[in-house]
Parts: sequence; structure tokens; C-alpha cells
Amino acid sequence: MNFNAMRVYREGGKRVSRIVAQTLDDLDPGEVVIKSRFAAVNYKDARAVSGIGNVIKRFPCVPGIEVSGNVVASTHTSFREGDTVTVQGGQEFGIRHDGAYAEYVRVPASWVMPIQPGFDARDVVALGIAAYTSALAVEELIRRGVTPDKGPIAVTGATGGCSSFAIDMLSSLGYTVVASTGKTGEASYLKSIGAAEVIGRDAIATGDKPLEQQRWAGAIDAVGGKPLDALLRTMKKRGVVCAFGNAAGETFTSSIYPFILRSVSLAGINGNHPVASRGSAWARMARGGDLRPRHLDKICFEIPFDGLMEYCGQVIAGNNRGRAVVRFA
Ligand SMILES: NC(=O)c1ccc[n+]([C@@H]2O[C@H](COP(=O)([O-])OP(=O)(O)OC[C@H]3O[C@@H](n4cnc5c(N)ncnc54)[C@H](OP(=O)(O)O)[C@@H]3O)[C@@H](O)[C@H]2O)c1
Repeated sequence: MNFNAMRVYREGGKRVSRIVAQTLDDLDPGEVVIKSRFAAVNYKDARAVSGIGNVIKRFPCVPGIEVSGNVVASTHTSFREGDTVTVQGGQEFGIRHDGAYAEYVRVPASWVMPIQPGFDARDVVALGIAAYTSALAVEELIRRGVTPDKGPIAVTGATGGCSSFAIDMLSSLGYTVVASTGKTGEASYLKSIGAAEVIGRDAIATGDKPLEQQRWAGAIDAVGGKPLDALLRTMKKRGVVCAFGNAAGETFTSSIYPFILRSVSLAGINGNHPVASRGSAWARMARGGDLRPRHLDKICFEIPFDGLMEYCGQVIAGNNRGRAVVRFA
């Protein structure tokens, strides 16, 4: 059987991706073979496909870290032909082991999860690591005492997948959300998913002092770099910043003053957990749950497999909006 897969190769010191014809024997070993139906496009995936950074740890490799589909063969008793399943959230799939961007995937049975009640094959990937990471950040704000009456919550990289979900979840819980974006032309989209106000990327802080006017009770930061520093300088007393992203930079500079004079906290969020260990943040996103994004249909859209390379270029250029899902034919 021949099928199409995207592979990232290392050629002449560069990483190059292309869609190639494969057979099952070309894929890494595993007990379960899945016919792919949907795959997510995360920022990390766009970097892998575009040959940027060190996402892929073994070459050549099929990128893509989240897939859903139907089992077509299994040598493990937990799965049968026809089961609807997902693979997402490990440290290997689409990184060191052939991943999601292929019409068939083959993986160890321990990486495969049945689709849980309250999710379907499309929305389990549409929500995926992006919505789960945002839900973890929202739970962290709540856990640290940031309630809606404490003041507005800033969300950076607002038009991105994770941040769109964060805006949706926070607004449905009653928070006032201020969306910070490089694309202020997307203000009507951001308001339609729950933002009360939309500001430009450079408008988080108005000056460059170590402490600026106190504005935010909480923040969800998807970009790192200078915007993260601007958030820290403008947090209210006992404000909490939940950081999980690096689109604006992998490093940032801050003074100690927000921490020691305003008791600001910086919480790191890691959403790279397999579905089986996602706990309440994932369960709350099932249909009917209080963290289920109300605007999933506005945030998520489908792209064809053969449009993936071009779409990843748009992500790297920062021209994307919302969360793309690859639909396999
Ligand atoms: N820690 C974890 O477990 C975890 C899990 C998932 C994602 N992440 C990280 O979270 C971030 C967002 O992921 P995603 O999948 O939501 O990505 P995404 O959909 O591509 O969104 C990223 C957004 O960041 C903004 N952006 C892009 N380039 C920028 C730049 N140079 N400077 C400032 N802002 C820029 C853009 O929003 P605007 O134009 O609206 O500003 C863009 O839409 C990524 O860094 C990703 O690696 C981390």
C-alpha cells in the first residue's frame, strides 16, 4: 500500500520538508496502525515543517505531534480495527518517532488513546495541546487566587491557537480579557471570541521603567521575549503571569522589582502531557464542560494535507489566526 507522508530531511546542513510516497515499512515500528483523519498544526509543528529550531531530533522524520483517526491494524489486544483513537502529547511522536503528517501512522500501543466521551475525532485534535495548555494556564490563575473581580487579564499572541482558546475560556468564566496582538486588524475576530478590548503588541506597557502603571491582575503569555517583560512591569500587586510560549523570543530580560515590590508571580505552564494524564483541565473541555470553548467553530478551521507546507510558512511569518486542523482525504 502506497500513501503520502511529509518527511523532514537533513540535507547539506539544512532541514528540508517534502511530501513523499511511503509504504508502512517506511514508518517507525509500533503495534498500532492508524488511518489518519485529522492532525493539528501547532507553532512547534510549523517550526518543524519549516526547518526552524530543534523540534525534530532524528532525521528523516515525519513531523506533527497530534493526530486522530481509525485503527486499521493492531497487534495489541487493547485496540481493534475501526477504533477511533488519538495520539498526542508525548515526547517522541513527531519528534523522534514518525508523527502525524502522514496518511497512515504507526505507533506503540501505549501512545494511543481511545476518544473519550464528550470529544470526537475532529475536536480532540482541534482542541488538542493548544486548548489543554490554555486550560492549564486558566486553572493556574484560579489556583493562585486571580478571580474576575481582581481586574483584567492580558493575553498575548492573541490571534494564535492557544491564546484564542484562552480568551474564550477566560471570558466564559467572567474575566475581562484584554487581547494583545500584532494584528489589530483582527479586533472583530478577537471580540467575537470574548475579548473586551484589543491592544497592539507594543501597547502592553506605555513606558520602559522597571515598574509601570499597574494594569493586569493576571496574564497568559504565549510569546515570551519583550512582551513578557512588558507584562511583568505592568502587573498589579500579587498579579500572576502564566507563560508557555516563545513566538517572540526564547529569552527575556526583567528586573527583580515586579517580584519584590509587587509580589508578582511567574508561573511556567507545560502542556506536553499525554491525553491519559491530563486530569481536570482536559475533562473540563469535554462537551458540556465549563472550559469547553464556546467559539470552537470560529477558532478552528480545516486545511488540506497538500496545503500544510504553505500554511506553516504563514505561521512562521505570524500571519495565521486561530487553530488549523489538517483534514486527510
Ligand atoms: N509550554 C507548552 O506546553 C506549550 C504548548 C502549546 C504551545 N506552546 C507555545 O505557545 C505558543 C503559541 O502556540 P500556538 O500553537 O498557539 O501558536 P500560533 O497559533 O502560531 O500563535 C502564535 C501567535 O503568536 C504571535 N506571534 C507570532 N510571531 C510573533 C512575534 N515575532 N512576536 C510576537 N508575537 C508573535 C501571533 O499572534 P498575534 O499576531 O495575535 O500577536 C501568533 O498568532 C508557541 O510559542 C508554542 O510553542 C507551548
